[in-house]
Amino acid sequence: MINIAIDGPAGAGKSTIAKAVAKELGLIYLDTGAMYRAVAYAALKNGTDVSDAKGIAALLEGLKMDIRYEDGVQLIFVNGENVTPYLRTPEMSKAASDISALPVVRYKMVEMQREFAATRDVVLDGRDIGTFVLPDANCKFYMTASPEERAKRRFEELRLKGENCSYDDVLNDIIKRDYNDSHREVAPLKQADDAVYLDTTTLTIAQVVAAVEKVVKEKIK
Ligand code: DC
Repeated sequence: MINIAIDGPAGAGKSTIAKAVAKELGLIYLDTGAMYRAVAYAALKNGTDVSDAKGIAALLEGLKMDIRYEDGVQLIFVNGENVTPYLRTPEMSKAASDISALPVVRYKMVEMQREFAATRDVVLDGRDIGTFVLPDANCKFYMTASPEERAKRRFEELRLKGENCSYDDVLNDIIKRDYNDSHREVAPLKQADDAVYLDTTTLTIAQVVAAVEKVVKEKIK
């Protein structure tokens, strides 16, 4: 199986690059952040506090998550409901970051991700793919960019979707999320020793895709 891991902080461009690379190389793309967002969505809908480990454990017992693809686009279903349209709001970004610190949530998501990657050629993006989920992945990347550039990209994405927010709020959220994601106890965000480091601050999407594909083609002949 071909497993490509792309990790890095919020807004580094991981999903854009992972999608493009998956399409060009004929691989499946798994957005693991969307899985944490879907758990956060279920918790908020159920009125369970995202830091209540016991409540979230009970919620997870009865939670069935399905990942499906329609015309190559990933959709996430929770207990039969397609929750995909509700996952990319600032509220869900924060809740996903908080809930992802709970070991009970991580273990369930990691188990699903490992099962998924065991039977498919896949590009996964997240925070802990190269360090924890798939330490033997064929290729690993750590993608980042300056917080200001990442906030600019996220702000633009939200603005295009008609979300009402300020650049400063987006930047503050990114800085808080970076701290949360890299300081939690289980599988925090960090670069794997054998990951290729890519700073995308001044690079175009095409340049990053080309850099990733070059490494992949060299490693997987
Ligand atoms: O990539 P994203 O912004 O959609 O991820 C949302 C949150 O989920 C992120 O702040 C941390 C968490 N996450 C994680 O802990 N591990 C992953 N592999 C992916 C995401």
